[in-house]
Amino acid sequence: TPNNTLTVTTTTLFSPVFAGTFDTEFDITWGDGRGKVLNNGGLLTLSLDRASGSGFQTKKEYLFGKIDMQLKLVPGNSAGTVTAYYLKSKGDTWDEIDFEFLGNLTGDPYTMHTNVYTQGKGDREQQFHLWFDPTADFHTYSVLWNPHHIVFMVDDIPVRKFKNLQHIGVPYPKLQPMRLYSSLWNADQWATRGGLVKTDWSKAPFTASYRNFRADACVSSGGKSSCPAGSTRWFSQRLDLTAEDKMKVVQRKYMVYNYCTDTKRFPQGAPKECRH
Ligand SMILES: *[C@@H]1O[C@H](CO)[C@@H](O)[C@H](O)[C@H]1NC(C)=O
Repeated sequence: TPNNTLTVTTTTLFSPVFAGTFDTEFDITWGDGRGKVLNNGGLLTLSLDRASGSGFQTKKEYLFGKIDMQLKLVPGNSAGTVTAYYLKSKGDTWDEIDFEFLGNLTGDPYTMHTNVYTQGKGDREQQFHLWFDPTADFHTYSVLWNPHHIVFMVDDIPVRKFKNLQHIGVPYPKLQPMRLYSSLWNADQWATRGGLVKTDWSKAPFTASYRNFRADACVSSGGKSSCPAGSTRWFSQRLDLTAEDKMKVVQRKYMVYNYCTDTKRFPQGAPKECRH
């Protein structure tokens, strides 16, 4: 379709500008040497051992964007480990767009957990299994955040969409700039089968790898936001029918939890955004 052609053009034109920039675009914020930038800024690794995990964040804050990163998750027995990858704004009424990858026993699937917080309120979990082994190779995890919607994508396939439904009273993130964060940490109190499966520390250190960060995004600084040339494409992008169909297929086959259908949790009826 014409839409897809446009998307490909944008990617080709703008990707080289932002590639290989872990040393200039990110700060490793915690982990006492467990987070490392390698290959002249082209590769970043986080590790976790019994003493600590590690994490990094972007130097910049963004207000709308199409943000891509390739991740290769902790291989083998990763039960109890969580790799979080998210956008978040500051303050008590923050906005947040989350990917979290919950490790598992060798051979059992990772759970990809997603959530959207608006004005400090989340409770919008959807979880998926993946259609590939996320530890064998790098795969691209993206967020498209524009005034119409937030779309979560895996290898350019949309898996979840959070629409701007402000007109029916659902707050939408559009004023607070967000920074990108990632961390690898131990969550064996709850992550794997509700905490029954513990982290196997004899396999430590656990390592997750990152490459090909790309932010076609408006950068916010001192209350002003500036958008790169070509932004109009992703800024106004909506999913075409082909993309919507692909998303439906993924949700039907790979979604393992959806707050919208959790009637035990919401006996009064699903939250408003679920009904639109
Ligand atoms: C781990 O694997 C089991 C068995 O396939 C699955 O039910 C579960 O959702 C997986 N993920 C986590 C985080 O436990």
